[in-house]
Amino acid sequence: MLSVRLLVSALTMSSLVLGLLGLLEDPSAACQNLTAYLGISQTAVSQLDLRYISSRNSYWNTKLNAYAPACVVYPENAQDVSFILKTIKASGSRFAIKAAGHNTNDLFSSVDNGVLIDLTHMTGKSYDASTTLATYEPGSSWGDLYEYYLTYGRTVVGGRIHDVGTGLALGGGMSYLSPQYGMACDGFRELEVVLPNGDIVTASSTQNPDLFFGLRGGGGNAFGVVTKYTVQSRPIGTLYAGNLLYVFDQHERILNATRDFILYNADPKAAVLMNYNVLTDA
Ligand SMILES: Cc1cc2nc3c(=O)[nH]c(=O)nc-3n(C[C@H](O)[C@H](O)[C@H](O)COP(=O)(O)OP(=O)(O)OC[C@H]3O[C@@H](n4cnc5c(N)ncnc54)[C@H](O)[C@@H]3O)c2cc1C
Ligand SMILES: *[C@@H]1O[C@H](CO)[C@@H](O)[C@H](O)[C@H]1NC(C)=O
Ligand SMILES: *[C@@H]1O[C@H](CO)[C@@H](O)[C@H](O)[C@H]1NC(C)=O
Repeated sequence: MLSVRLLVSALTMSSLVLGLLGLLEDPSAACQNLTAYLGISQTAVSQLDLRYISSRNSYWNTKLNAYAPACVVYPENAQDVSFILKTIKASGSRFAIKAAGHNTNDLFSSVDNGVLIDLTHMTGKSYDASTTLATYEPGSSWGDLYEYYLTYGRTVVGGRIHDVGTGLALGGGMSYLSPQYGMACDGFRELEVVLPNGDIVTASSTQNPDLFFGLRGGGGNAFGVVTKYTVQSRPIGTLYAGNLLYVFDQHERILNATRDFILYNADPKAAVLMNYNVLTDA
């Protein structure tokens, strides 16, 4: 019940914010001021700019490439994000927040004729051996984060495919380690968040705990921009993994076996991921 209410309020909040900001829908003032303040190294306004082309065309769902942002901005830190949100608000422009662009839905991390906030320049990461906490910015892929923390013999709970991004954890996040450690968002300890009014705040179990609660599963594109995640890291050793491929006429048996695994598996270190692939003709 609580989670349903939270979801409803998250949707209401974001549609309210987007609705209010959408009234004027002229992004040019925002793009001009963003370029003036951040400089051309952190803004792309031309559709022929290679960075613009890359930001626009790196969605997992290629249908989203059809949307043409008025400009793309590349914040380096929370202060940049704060300025960006204030400028967007002042201009009434539409906007979208994009991490690794794997959300498949229209306009969740894509925008037409608005400001696209591309977080991929924010790839800072660190590990604190004394607390075993891992801290990372939102712009890395899970694969990059895993490779980095592996150098400490540690990992973070995140996605199961290399290229997926950190937005995953704001929506919960199913991991191969979830049977053992819960969802990705369960590992959150402290989040740095830029609120829609530009304020930079901390969300944790002791600071802004209601915001912290909302961000653990209901947080993608809902309450603000998360500019830093501090999470509980986990030990990682050798994994045994493999792929099994079956042709489609077996699919009912595979579905049943997956269901049975989820229902009856008692080993918290075991996990399975089942998916359908359509093989195109060579
Ligand atoms: C190939 C593939 C594999 C997947 N595997 C898994 C899996 O193993 N487990 C699982 O749970 N899910 C999985 N997913 C689903 C995935 O979690 C979602 O698509 C998720 O939204 C992707 O996050 P992203 O950062 O890549 O995408 P984006 O589209 O960039 O962001 C997702 C959403 O979060 C918002 N957002 C992103 N970063 C921030 C931020 N810092 N602050 C505020 N809002 C933000 C965006 O506005 C957008 O609405 C998979 C999806 C694909 C396409
Ligand atoms: C753009 O910057 C000018 C000059 O600082 C300011 O007057 C104006 O309000 C800003 N507009 C937006 C949309 O931020
Ligand atoms: C799959 O499970 C359903 C429900 O238990 C059962 O009716 C069906 O026969 C099973 N199919 C196969 C191919 O095992």
